[in-house]
Amino acid sequence: MQPSCAPYQKVRFHSAIRKSSMSTILATAFLLLSMSNFAAPGAVMAMERDDLGRVLKIMPPNGTPEKYGNVILRKRSKKAGMPPAVFPHWLHRARYTCSVCHVELELAMRGGSNGISRTGCLSGKYCGACHDGKTAFTVKEDGGKKECYRCHLQDASQLDNKFRQFAAELPASGYGNNIDWQAALNQGKIPQKNSLSGNKALPPLPNMLKKPLLLGSGSGRSAVTFSHEEHNAEMDCTMCHPDIFNIKEKGTLFFSMETNIYGQYCGACHMRVAFPMNDCRRCHPSMSYME
Ligand code: HEC
Ligand code: HEC
Ligand code: HEC
Ligand code: HEC
Ligand code: HEC
Ligand code: HEC
Repeated sequence: MQPSCAPYQKVRFHSAIRKSSMSTILATAFLLLSMSNFAAPGAVMAMERDDLGRVLKIMPPNGTPEKYGNVILRKRSKKAGMPPAVFPHWLHRARYTCSVCHVELELAMRGGSNGISRTGCLSGKYCGACHDGKTAFTVKEDGGKKECYRCHLQDASQLDNKFRQFAAELPASGYGNNIDWQAALNQGKIPQKNSLSGNKALPPLPNMLKKPLLLGSGSGRSAVTFSHEEHNAEMDCTMCHPDIFNIKEKGTLFFSMETNIYGQYCGACHMRVAFPMNDCRRCHPSMSYME
């Protein structure tokens, strides 16, 4: 009955994410940053607030809502003459908490970094842990060719339509998947399993973490709070500690929006799967100049 789940024990998260490869957005942001002589990624020097606001404001939306959070795996498929395999987060996160895949199945949170292969899938790893013909349609030949192409997508329109039907039932937001996932969770609209073997009771959050933390300077203009309670519902401690937030090094001191938009700190999830950084007010409730 030891609740605090030893955040320092296991390292499943690739620290390579810190020097993360750039998606289109990040590349665009980078271009903009380098055109104006702002600080390079990781630099401690902070950008002027208004300049930063302008850069963030013109960041293109991160793809269409159907595609936000989809990971496309094409390297091995291409070599084998198969269409790329698509992993849609929206569909899976409605059924499982993040921890099921990123802790229990030990998948690192970085596209392409797990070496997902056909052999692995066939032996029950990666996608094959669930796509076995019981929990979900199978990766094996005996599922018939049609099943192969549900992942190796030649045409995404069917999956996109599924998304639209699914999203129509959920609370809306204006960013990312255009779904307010937090509200969907709070309203019980997406009952997730938190383990492959059915649901397990979550250890209670240590008392010291129940109160939201005030991050950064705590000045009126930023006033970002971080709630362990909200994040804890879907995520184990090890998804954030020590790789994304090293408590001992007091990571907060070096936070800036630049590092966030480069996919570090909050951006590790909030640029790729959870609501994206364009949604300023979700984190900066008292921010006004963006309208
Ligand atoms: C649940 C999703 C899923 C299903 C179903 C699936 N695959 Fe895959 N498959 C993947 C993923 C993910 C990869 C890795 C893709 C990459 O890196 O390009 C992959 C890779 C492959 C590769 C590349 C070779 C390699 O060594 O990885 C081949 C060939 C392949 N799959 C064939 C098939 C065939 C044939 C079927 C149906 C009998 C099938 N797949 C069904 C997800 C799936
Ligand atoms: C059903 C399994 C599953 C669930 C549930 C899941 N993920 Fe993932 N996630 C994956 C896979 C598979 C990848 C791609 C890994 C690879 O390419 O090697 C991935 C990749 C990621 C990435 C990197 C994306 C990129 O573009 O580089 C992030 C960030 C991430 N997941 C966060 C989350 C968060 C946050 C949640 C919960 C809201 C979540 N995941 C739920 C399986 C899952
Ligand atoms: C933790 C379990 C789990 C893991 C791991 C998992 N999936 Fe799934 N996946 C599911 C379930 C459950 C469904 C819904 C099955 C259904 O509709 O019959 C699903 C559905 C899908 C669909 C929707 C297909 C359609 O036609 O609606 C795709 C695409 C998909 N998975 C791809 C993948 C890929 C690629 C991987 C590995 C990178 C993967 N999944 C890993 C459980 C999982
Ligand atoms: C979604 C990411 C995330 C998850 C999951 C998470 N934390 Fe944190 N944690 C943070 C952030 C952000 C901070 C503040 C930043 C910092 O101190 O670097 C923090 C700070 C802390 C602190 C220092 C608190 C203080 O008052 O200074 C402790 C202790 C801690 N976390 C323990 C845990 C434990 C135990 C769990 C699992 C029950 C957990 N965290 C889960 C992101 C997370
Ligand atoms: C490991 C992934 C991860 C990291 C890192 C992370 N978050 Fe989150 N966060 C999530 C997910 C998943 C949700 C659920 C909502 C969603 O997916 O859009 C969420 C929800 C939130 C919410 C709730 C929004 C609401 O409507 O109530 C806030 C605020 C938030 N995060 C702020 C932060 C801040 C600030 C940081 C950095 C200090 C951070 N998060 C780091 C994954 C993460
Ligand atoms: C996922 C949460 C999150 C989102 C979304 C977000 N920020 Fe931040 N922001 C942070 C965190 C964490 C910090 C660092 C803590 C601090 O300095 O207060 C920060 C810091 C800042 C700062 C520096 C604060 C100061 O007082 O100097 C500015 C400016 C800023 N953000 C602007 C924005 C703008 C503009 C947007 C929208 C385009 C945005 N942020 C979206 C989490 C977020």
